[in-house]
Amino acid sequence: MEPRTVIISGSTSGIGEATAAEFLKNGDNVVVFSPHQNEVDGAVERLKDLGGKILPLVGDVRDVRDIKHIVKETMHHFGQIDVLVNNAGVAMWKPIEEHTDKDFDLMMDVNVKGPWMFIREIMPIMKKQDKAVVIQISSIRGEKGAENYSVYSPSKFALVGLTQSMAAEVPTGVRFYSVLPGGVFTPLHMSVHPWKDPETLMKPEYVGCKIFKLAEGKKPSGFALRVYE
Ligand SMILES: NC(=O)c1ccc[n+]([C@@H]2O[C@H](COP(=O)([O-])OP(=O)(O)OC[C@H]3O[C@@H](n4cnc5c(N)ncnc54)[C@H](OP(=O)(O)O)[C@@H]3O)[C@@H](O)[C@H]2O)c1
Repeated sequence: MEPRTVIISGSTSGIGEATAAEFLKNGDNVVVFSPHQNEVDGAVERLKDLGGKILPLVGDVRDVRDIKHIVKETMHHFGQIDVLVNNAGVAMWKPIEEHTDKDFDLMMDVNVKGPWMFIREIMPIMKKQDKAVVIQISSIRGEKGAENYSVYSPSKFALVGLTQSMAAEVPTGVRFYSVLPGGVFTPLHMSVHPWKDPETLMKPEYVGCKIFKLAEGKKPSGFALRVYE
């Protein structure tokens, strides 16, 4: 099989980095990016000998100029985009009275508007291809709300709606999926639940394998993959 070209947002840590590793081991080209140069450099150092080519970039999904730059650079280097994994995310866990408007805007901008803008910018390219896959990393909180998640959970519900709406809107070779993981041992998870025993959480590599498999595009468009018990 020809190497695929895969863009993974927030691929310098946790689930995104583990997913990048799966594609690289398969010989695919992977665009690794996050807003911080030092984080990108660190991820490239860890991922560089796995197989496929890495295109390291710096970018913030909240800024449409960064998204356009990433899409342009990817096309310049590889000439196509086969898979987009909208993985970058931020989480906060506190009662609604303690959430500020700024918290709300940050989570909605990174978790919802970023993926939405990425899909908008990439659609003209993917629609011209025979086959492409777009995966949203939602969460168990994308179908089950919970205390102290009055912003995070709605942001993750939105990704499931975005996936279903795009699947209805683009009935071509482009497939749209959501992934709904439970607790995964990553910096994001430990920042909101520092008391958690890592042994009770999934490993990012486990979720990365599930995302890699889903990207084969065999499930019907709109499908939501639950990765929790
Ligand atoms: N861990 C869990 O238990 C869990 C469960 C369900 C769903 N999820 C979801 O899985 C996804 C990945 O989370 P994770 O747990 O793997 O977290 P993580 O290890 O903290 O990684 C988050 C990644 O997102 C990047 N990022 C943050 N803000 C960004 C922005 N504005 N633009 C581009 N990249 C940005 C970070 O880059 P920097 O490091 O450079 O800031 C980092 O690479 C998130 O969408 C999260 O909601 C996680």
